[in-house]
Amino acid sequence: MRYFIKLCWVLGIIYNAEGSRPVSESGLPRIIHHPSDVVVRVGSPATLSCRAEGNPKPTIQWLRNGQPLDTEKMDAHSQPVVLPEGSLFFFSVVLGRKSQSHEAVYACVARNSAGVATSRNASLHIAEPG
Ligand SMILES: *[C@@H]1O[C@H](CO)[C@@H](O)[C@H](O)[C@H]1NC(C)=O
Repeated sequence: MRYFIKLCWVLGIIYNAEGSRPVSESGLPRIIHHPSDVVVRVGSPATLSCRAEGNPKPTIQWLRNGQPLDTEKMDAHSQPVVLPEGSLFFFSVVLGRKSQSHEAVYACVARNSAGVATSRNASLHIAEPG
């Protein structure tokens, strides 16, 4: 009997722990690090920062001049990559045709099942050589 009471007591603790687990908050994505404007020389690397939190962990997508950045349509050698924490990294900044040039206005979009958050716009300017 004592064991039974003890068992109930233990189960009660477990049950309460489960019950009092914080009810998952809305979990809306929130941008906690916005990208800043950058000026880069042609051929130099560049990073546009973005960090977001939310529950579940938001996925990050980037906009280029307001349009989703479709890295698959860009030349392989000039494709920027989205780093695991959300920043956009350019190995080598190029000044190309309008659709290929890296000189543009960028923003990151954090999205999860609870909603969407968009960062401020950050411009990437290419410095004149010399
Ligand atoms: C950011 O830039 C894009 C493209 O120029 C524009 O459509 C959008 O309205 C801008 N967003 C903000 C918050 O300024």
